[in-house]
Amino acid sequence: MTAALPPTRLQSGTSSETAHLTARARAADAVIEPGRRLLGDTFAHLFVTVPPPATSQEALDRLQLLDGAHGGFIAEILLRQRYFEDLVALAVDAGVRQVVLLGAGYDTTALRFTGSEPVRFFEVDHPATQRAKLETLAAAELTSPVVSVPLDFTSGASLREELVAHGFDTEEPCVVGWLGVTFFLPPEACSATLADLADTVAPGSLVLFDYMDESVVDGTSSYQGALTMARQVAEQGEPYINGLTPLTAAEAARAAGFEPVEQLRVNQLVRRYGGTDPYCSDDDFMGLVTARRTEREPGGRGE
Ligand SMILES: C[S@@+](CC[C@H](N)C(=O)[O-])C[C@H]1O[C@@H](n2cnc3c(N)ncnc32)[C@H](O)[C@@H]1O
Repeated sequence: MTAALPPTRLQSGTSSETAHLTARARAADAVIEPGRRLLGDTFAHLFVTVPPPATSQEALDRLQLLDGAHGGFIAEILLRQRYFEDLVALAVDAGVRQVVLLGAGYDTTALRFTGSEPVRFFEVDHPATQRAKLETLAAAELTSPVVSVPLDFTSGASLREELVAHGFDTEEPCVVGWLGVTFFLPPEACSATLADLADTVAPGSLVLFDYMDESVVDGTSSYQGALTMARQVAEQGEPYINGLTPLTAAEAARAAGFEPVEQLRVNQLVRRYGGTDPYCSDDDFMGLVTARRTEREPGGRGE
């Protein structure tokens, strides 16, 4: 008989600490001088409990300390977001007016969105993290332009029903970001969420998700910084439990009804966005998949 796993941090009703960690990286990056920063999230500081660095050099020192211990994470956290925001900008230029963030955490894409067209942002997250985010925004007297959809991806509740109940239009295309989440979900909840998403979004919609290499989850990775991070997040109650590879990540997208259009690894993100002297390393144990919803099967939902 296998022992029951202890409840995760979220199951205990406590907001995600890993969402806080990614916000801390974004807040520090925003202090770095314009030529070297990787993202520029000017609202991330609202969500951090540690005061952000005061100067560009302090910010670089802080991020490089973390990068030295856990190479690859800073690049992944900041650059998957940069890539996502580029994807959103391109889609909005092409006429898309709905953006969905799954496991949004302390994402501030909507707060920083400056497009001239009205775009609806839907943020789906575990109620514990979403509550913490909304409390922070209220304390800062900021009105969020976002439609908040509380949902636990492991609860069996329908993503489609929840989004539709909150005003999401299943006939209009959208862009979906699912960043920093798949590796925290049991594999069956991950596949079920992807299938539910495919059942929700109109053909042509794009989803971007990232994944952690299987070797980090099973402890065989040669990236020691990734393995120590895996131990730390597990101790905090947010273990990495679902690993993929470039191949299985693409297969998971296809099985759900999406066709991959681009796959990138951390080192490719750094090459694309890091400039000539990137301040972080590109240890390569994570990847991104961008995939397009294919036509729905005749007779399927929405036909
Ligand atoms: C590492 S954070 C990433 C947050 C944000 N996307 C980012 O990139 O900064 C993981 C997020 O996944 C959410 N999450 C984890 N497990 C979840 C679940 N079972 N249901 C809903 N959200 C979940 C957490 O609440 C948290 O916001």
